[in-house]
Amino acid sequence: MSEIVTVSTRPFEGQAPGTSGLRKKVKVFQQPNYAENFIQSVFDVVSPDPGAVLVIGGDGRFHNRTVIQEAIRMAAANGYGKVLVGRGGILSTPAASHVIRKYKASGGLVLSASHNPGGPEEDFGIKYNIANGGPAPESVTGAIHARTQVIDRWLTVPGEDIDLETPGEYRVGGMTVSVIDPVADYADLMETLFDFDAIRSAVKGGFTMRFDAMSAVTGPYAHEILENRLGFARDTVVNGTPLEDFGGHHPDPNLIHAEQLYLAMMAPDAPDLGAASDGDGDRNLIIGRGRFITPSDSLAMLAANIECAPGYKGRLAGIARSMPTSAAADRVAEALGVPCFETPTGWKFFGNLLDAGKVTICGEESAGTGSDHVREKDGLWAVLLWLNILAVRKISVDELAREHWARFGRNYYARHDYEGVDKAGADALMDGLKAQLASLPGQSFGPLTVSVADSFSYTDPVDGSVSANQGIRVLFEGGSRVVFRLSGTGTHGATLRVYLENYTGPDGNLGAETGDMLAPQIAAAEAIAGIERHTGRTKPDVIT
Ligand code: G6P
Ligand code: ZN
Repeated sequence: MSEIVTVSTRPFEGQAPGTSGLRKKVKVFQQPNYAENFIQSVFDVVSPDPGAVLVIGGDGRFHNRTVIQEAIRMAAANGYGKVLVGRGGILSTPAASHVIRKYKASGGLVLSASHNPGGPEEDFGIKYNIANGGPAPESVTGAIHARTQVIDRWLTVPGEDIDLETPGEYRVGGMTVSVIDPVADYADLMETLFDFDAIRSAVKGGFTMRFDAMSAVTGPYAHEILENRLGFARDTVVNGTPLEDFGGHHPDPNLIHAEQLYLAMMAPDAPDLGAASDGDGDRNLIIGRGRFITPSDSLAMLAANIECAPGYKGRLAGIARSMPTSAAADRVAEALGVPCFETPTGWKFFGNLLDAGKVTICGEESAGTGSDHVREKDGLWAVLLWLNILAVRKISVDELAREHWARFGRNYYARHDYEGVDKAGADALMDGLKAQLASLPGQSFGPLTVSVADSFSYTDPVDGSVSANQGIRVLFEGGSRVVFRLSGTGTHGATLRVYLENYTGPDGNLGAETGDMLAPQIAAAEAIAGIERHTGRTKPDVIT
C-alpha cells in the first residue's frame, strides 16, 4: 500500500450540483482545494468498494488536464482499483456513459460545462455519473452537496502526473490507470445500432452532409464515424479539432451559436443534412436543406421512424420527454400505442425509466435526444439515427417533416431566453406566477383562455421519488401553452426561459412562420408574468 496524504480543508459555499453537475467559472475552480473538496465529497458519498473502477473524461476544455491529474491521485487514495481515462483527457459525455457501462465501472467523473464557453475566464464543471452510466440522481447529488458543507479533509497520494497522451497502463499509488482510445468503443456501439450499409450506399449515391463539431469534443468522433467509417467526404466535419477555448465561441448547437451552419443550410447549394453538437457531445442540432428541425420535433420524428434502425426494430417500449418539450412526441406515442412520460428538465430524470425498460427513446427541447444505448443524451447518435432514417426511406429532411405534420399535426414551438437577469427580479417573477396559479384558470389573454395553471411536480413511477417546483405551466384551451422556468445551468445571474407552444392539427396551417403562430402566446406570457417589469428586458436574448 502506498502512502496516503490527508490535506486539511474548509468548506466552500455554493457547491450544490445544478441541473447537470457543479458549474462555475474556471477562476472559482482554480482556488486551492475547490475542485478537491467537491471530488472528495463525491468519493465520501459514494464510498467505493475497494478495487472499484472509476471512469474520468472531459470535453477538452481549459483546466481539464489539471483536474484530471488531481482526480486520479485522489481516486488512488480513496481506494479505487482502476481509473479509465480517455487519451488527452477526452471522453464525450455519451462516450463516458458507454465506457462506464461497458467496463462495469462503479461510476465516472465527467469534466465539462457542456455548451458553456471555455477558457481561463469562462466556465468549468464536474459531474458524477453512477454505475448505470447516467447522471447521479438527486438523492446522490443532495448528499454530495451536504458533504461539501462539512468537509474538512481530502485524500491524495504523492506522485507525478501521468502521460495522458499515450494509451497504456500506468500505476498511481496502489491503483492502475488505463489511458484508452476515447473513440473506438463508442464508434463500435454506433455500428451495432444503425444501418451503416444503408448510409454508406446513400453517401455513394451522392448524399452529402456538414457536421460542425464547434471546436469541441465530437470532432474526433465525427471524423472517425462519418468520414472514416461511413465514407463522407473529408471536408464533411468542420471545426473538428477540440480546442481548450472552443475557438472563443459558445459550443452550443443552436441557431445563434451555429449560425454559419444555419446560413449554409439555407443556401440553395446546401448539403442534404447539416448537424452540430455541443462542448461535451451530448446535444444535437439538425437542419435539412432549407429546413430547421426543432429538438421537440426531432424527438417525435425519430420516434415515429425508429423502426428503420436495426438496433431498435420491434422494441420501442415508450417515449419520454421533459415537461417544457413540446407535446409532438405524445402524439406519436399515442399513434404507436406506447406510453409517453413527462419528466422534469434534466436528463437524470430519464435514468430510472430507461433502466426499468419503460422507455426506449427520450428527448428534451434543450437539444438533447438519446436512447437506452447509454444513460446520457447523445448528439452523434441523433445525427446517425437521422442519417439512418433518411438513407432507408430515401427522403429529404424537409419531406419527412412535412409528411410528419400532415399525419400528426404541428406543434409550433420556440423558447425565449432572458440571460443574465437580476436574480431577485427573476425570483419575484416566479413568485408572482405562483401567486396567480389559483386565479388564472378561466382568464383570457387576447384569443387565449387559460384552462389549467400549475407548478409542475413529478413523481418518479419507478422509485416514487417526488420532484416539486419544476416550472410553471399555463395551459390554454385548444392545446397551446406557455411554460416559465429558471435555468439550472447558468453560472452568473439568472436565466429566465419562456417556452411557447401552439398546436395546429393536420388540417390546419402547417406551413406558417413559427413567430407568427406564437404571437398570441408571446403576448399572453408578458401579460401573465410581467417579464419587462421584473427583468427590465423588452425582448429575449436568444430565441431557439
Ligand atoms: C443540461 C442537461 C439537460 C437539460 C438542460 C437544461 O443540458 O443535461 O438535460 O435539459 O441542462 O438546462 P437549463 O439551463 O434549462 O436548466
Ligand atoms: Zn452538453
